[in-house]
Amino acid sequence: MSMRTLFAALILAISGPAVAGDVQRGLEIGYTCMGCHGIEGQRNAFPSFRVPRLGGQHAEYIVLSLQGYRNGTRQHPTMEAQAATMTDQDMRDLAAYFASLGELRTGRPGRAAARGAEKAQVCAACHGQDGVSPSPMWPTLAGQHRDYLVETLKAYRDGRRTDPVMAAQAVGLSDRDIQDLAIFYASHPGLFTPRR
Ligand code: HEC
Ligand code: HEC
Repeated sequence: MSMRTLFAALILAISGPAVAGDVQRGLEIGYTCMGCHGIEGQRNAFPSFRVPRLGGQHAEYIVLSLQGYRNGTRQHPTMEAQAATMTDQDMRDLAAYFASLGELRTGRPGRAAARGAEKAQVCAACHGQDGVSPSPMWPTLAGQHRDYLVETLKAYRDGRRTDPVMAAQAVGLSDRDIQDLAIFYASHPGLFTPRR
């Protein structure tokens, strides 16, 4: 390895690829976010499901998902309103702030994980055997709320959330498959509700 490659690798290891955010600024503009994402069990009113856990989520994926609400590939009135006026730098600052609130939880999966384990095999290449995704651009699913996973898998299947990769994955899933997969990922330790 040349000095230059070594240096580049070090920078990448410290800052993570692409996302260089300002934690302090993220804290300031992220204040309102915590009114939903910082409260354990906080629910979306209609349809009713718990707001996704952002603690431990990949920073790159957080930026991509905020861009999705801004670009209209994801639909949700509150989140579209939040993201509409954000710059990419705002999104990176917010992602850095969430990343500063703690590491992914580790431990053993709950017993319910046995259900859906087989169905999750086809997902493992991108979301990891245990739901911890190997790429910072793909979401970690371990520890995510079960009802949010159900809601979002149905959104892919029904075309309310558009992503070519996930649309192809979700098109053949029955409601039962979706329940089993959601239980599988929710039963693994990983994501958490962050606290300020
Ligand atoms: C009123 C409650 C509320 C507020 C305030 C709010 N969110 Fe959300 N957020 C939600 C809900 C509900 C969803 C799931 C929407 C969906 O189904 O796509 C969501 C989704 C997200 C996602 C996607 C997560 C994933 O796993 O794909 C990100 C990232 C996010 N919010 C970040 C933020 C940030 C940053 C702020 C502040 C600027 C914020 N949210 C403010 C309720 C809220
Ligand atoms: C080829 C890679 C790939 C495979 C295989 C794959 N996914 Fe995904 N998955 C993605 C990507 C990329 C996204 C983010 C797409 C977006 O921005 O909406 C995603 C998003 C998701 C989300 C939304 C997470 C969130 O926080 O909102 C869920 C749930 C999910 N996948 C479940 C699954 C399940 C269950 C399977 C197997 C049946 C699967 N995925 C297979 C790449 C993949």
